[in-house]
Amino acid sequence: MSDSFLPFSKPSISEQEIHDVVEVLRSGWITTGSKNAEFESQFSLFTGCKHSIALSSATAGMHLLLQAYNVREGDEVITPSMTWVSTINLITLSGATPVFVDIDKDTLMTTAQLIEPLITKKTRLIIPVHFAGAALDLDELYALGKKYDIPVIEDAAHAIGTYYKKNHIGQQGTAIYSFHPIKNITTGEGGMFCTNDDHLAEKIRRLKFHGLGVDSYDRETQGRAPQAEVLEPGFKYNMTDIAATLGIGQLEQIFKFNRRRKEIAQQYLQAFNEIEGIEPLQIPTYEMDHAWHLFIVRIDKSITGFNRNEFMQRLKEQGIGTGLHFRAVHEQKYYSDHPFPDENNLPNTEYNSARICSLPLFPDMHESDCQRVIQTIKDILLKR
Ligand SMILES: Cc1ncc(COP(=O)(O)O)c(C=O)c1O
Repeated sequence: MSDSFLPFSKPSISEQEIHDVVEVLRSGWITTGSKNAEFESQFSLFTGCKHSIALSSATAGMHLLLQAYNVREGDEVITPSMTWVSTINLITLSGATPVFVDIDKDTLMTTAQLIEPLITKKTRLIIPVHFAGAALDLDELYALGKKYDIPVIEDAAHAIGTYYKKNHIGQQGTAIYSFHPIKNITTGEGGMFCTNDDHLAEKIRRLKFHGLGVDSYDRETQGRAPQAEVLEPGFKYNMTDIAATLGIGQLEQIFKFNRRRKEIAQQYLQAFNEIEGIEPLQIPTYEMDHAWHLFIVRIDKSITGFNRNEFMQRLKEQGIGTGLHFRAVHEQKYYSDHPFPDENNLPNTEYNSARICSLPLFPDMHESDCQRVIQTIKDILLKR
């Protein structure tokens, strides 16, 4: 094994950001406060969405969403199985039924054509995923939502800095972003719920903090009485000012971060397009700008003689980390033991679930790291 391990992802945190976080720690106000307000308004400026509500995670945002729409037993939510488990867990825990929609074989994103036949009278929400930093075909999806009067909610965990037809994604409605450490910007853990819907924004703000309608910062700055009362039962999903401070510093660097991600992705694309047995995802043909959250390849055992798991193991033995985004949720133990009635066939989801692997991709990767990944993969695949 090579002595220095190259992880598949690593956050880029500057001395300035560390300094700013320390300042907040010293300030006497570390929970939700002015830094949250600043982060939210910067995020709205960046995405062009009217309301941004900072949360403890994107998963929290998904939970609040289901609660805000009162999704319950007997309801259906259409979403891919090729997603992070949290969406499916929350739908299941709400008592509703996730209806799995298949994906395009080469972009891993679902489409309006795949979703439409699954719509029933019970469908309450459609939650497609912008995958790996590429944009969904939003015009078609919003047209479908409008046709059936069903809200489309963009899972934008991978899509900070993703543009669709020159506009940042999420501008047409509601999107939920993640700031987990592997994402394009991080707050340690965190998420942002963005919407143009005034009523939904008010509801999410209330539900994120016990259903009080105010938080401690409102009370401090707007002279509200400390004896706020519950307007409806809510949760505690607010972001700390420690995290928001990091978010502000990270957001300032998003264009620099994503430019570097793109440079690395272009080198990978060039290198792997020439090699048999390893197939990168395809880039959608409609107009969009990729945020390159992940660089995903598929391993074809019929050519390589070994499968994805063995490929990952061989890279690990050479000191190179990889990720798996994602193992289809319906194939994981709980969900394969408890299948939902009338589960659909998901051939493209299953094809990819068995073959995909995410390669190292993060802004602080050096040129030599990138060349090392390419050369190691060439050695593994060409000298088999
Ligand atoms: C597609 C997708 N949705 C939602 C989430 C949940 O994000 P968080 O970890 O911030 O809760 C993730 C996280 O990896 C994700 O990849």
